[in-house]
Amino acid sequence: MTTSTRTKTDHLDSTDPQVLDYMLVPHRNFNLINGLHSPDEVDQIQNWEIRDSDIFVVTYPKSGTIWMQQILTLIEAKGDVTPNTEHLNARRVPWIELIGSEKKFNATPSPRLRVTHLQYKFMPLAVRQKRGKVIYVARNPKDVLVSYYHFHKYAAMLETPKDFNDFFEKFMEGKVFGNCWFEHIKTWYANRDNMNFLYITYEEMIKDLRSMVERMCRFLGKDLTEEQMASVVEHSTFRTMKQNPQANYKTVPDSLLDHNKGTFMRKGTIGDWKNHFTVAQNERFDSAFQEKMWDLPLSFVWDINDVNSAT
Ligand code: PPS
Repeated sequence: MTTSTRTKTDHLDSTDPQVLDYMLVPHRNFNLINGLHSPDEVDQIQNWEIRDSDIFVVTYPKSGTIWMQQILTLIEAKGDVTPNTEHLNARRVPWIELIGSEKKFNATPSPRLRVTHLQYKFMPLAVRQKRGKVIYVARNPKDVLVSYYHFHKYAAMLETPKDFNDFFEKFMEGKVFGNCWFEHIKTWYANRDNMNFLYITYEEMIKDLRSMVERMCRFLGKDLTEEQMASVVEHSTFRTMKQNPQANYKTVPDSLLDHNKGTFMRKGTIGDWKNHFTVAQNERFDSAFQEKMWDLPLSFVWDINDVNSAT
């Protein structure tokens, strides 16, 4: 492990970033990122003391994390956009797996809003006994793969893929941070009854953002006025977030996210995989999906034109 004590979020706010020697490090069958995560600290998460007011958003990478960071903060602020313009989304709703997170978690007043890409087995035991609330956001995995591919091209903490095919293979083998998409969603979903759990999809949010925000508010016990609700929705659209530097990592130095090579709020749509997958890759993906997902009562929308026919 690196001896650096700086964390990912320290870097996000830094104007003088230190280049770390990032690499994937397997830990209990899950890839952590050297320099951002510590296996010992990740193992401690299960012992964290949880309050009923704690809210955890769980995502496989590139499934709508920043979107949820935006929405949750706006709901908590009852539509007031001030916090969303002053601080990075990742500062307002931090990851629990980053080095140094426990201290900050313990020092944060309620309600504590957090995100994680971790698998279920790493979560605090109390969360797995219905303390706090969990919102799992899933996105159709073909679009996840494509979004993750582009992110790998400009994120310094992730290995730059040789080409799309190279990344496709790595994703299918789970040789990425987050590991196997199928395992992530399956283990979380299989354990949903152990938690106060809300399952939503990226595609549902694309289809009807307001309904999804309302569903989240009901789950979180939040009662917003019509005006507050309108503000939450307006400031969570792709168009608005793309223009907000804090929601778009624009203030993060190039040495961490190379803004010449990519943009965080990239396309924000459904079906971009069709512009990337070959016919053969698509057939392989479909067959893996059927083999691994047949026993889950979950369906996905694969094309923006199908958004209205989703069940
Ligand atoms: S990360 O790195 O795991 O935190 O990335 P994550 O935030 O989970 O996912 C980034 C993708 O989510 C899209 N996004 C949105 N789409 C539609 N509407 C809104 N408001 C929105 N906010 C974020 C973002 O554009 C990335 O997807 P792609 O397909 O790359 O555009």
